[in-house]
Amino acid sequence: MKLIVDFANLDRIKEMYAYYPIDGVTTNPSILAKEGKNPYEVLKAIRKFIGKDAELHVQVVSKDAESMVREAHKIQQELGPSTYVKVPVSREGLKAIKALAAEGTNITATAVYTQMQAYLAGKAGASYAAPYVNRIDNIGADGIKVAKDIHDIFKKNDLKTEVLAASFKNSQQVLELAKYGVGAATVAPDVIEGLIKLDAVDCAIKAFTKDFEKLCGEGKTMLDC
Ligand code: E4P
Repeated sequence: MKLIVDFANLDRIKEMYAYYPIDGVTTNPSILAKEGKNPYEVLKAIRKFIGKDAELHVQVVSKDAESMVREAHKIQQELGPSTYVKVPVSREGLKAIKALAAEGTNITATAVYTQMQAYLAGKAGASYAAPYVNRIDNIGADGIKVAKDIHDIFKKNDLKTEVLAASFKNSQQVLELAKYGVGAATVAPDVIEGLIKLDAVDCAIKAFTKDFEKLCGEGKTMLDC
């Protein structure tokens, strides 16, 4: 499962890349709005940092299919042809996905709440479909189950589309989908940090350090012996 960071703040993205095995960056209009700057300025800086071939996902906001396609062209012109264009799976969105897939554009079908939305997006040619795990839970359904069903639907129907699970509230949800082997998960930095937060680990490390310092002196490491 690829692990993608769902954020647009460059300093925080740099920090995540320094500490964790990150495979790319996703954004959405709300995430970009938090930066309070021209979106292309923010996205170009991210593109420069992650490199021209790394996964960067950017969403269109137009309402009709023809405008979504034009917006996708502008996004790719500004941020490079490897950029994944996120298209919400509405009726207009599906029309845009079909048109963009025919041109060979990388498409991430987004705002996915149901298995059938994902199936249609996959058949229309999307590379990824992004079920919103936590938001699905919040409307009384089971986000993890929806994401797993979508993974199965893609495999059983020989679709090349992969799940890019999104909208996580906690690390347990990420773990569930890693165990299932979905294609990718896009996760906010704080939830990624939660993947390794465990008091027992901190205690174990402290005990090792204490024992070593008894042997070689305070603050000493294997560099000093
Ligand atoms: C990613 O594609 C989605 O835009 C994002 O994960 C939504 O996350 P949220 O429900 O935490 O806003």
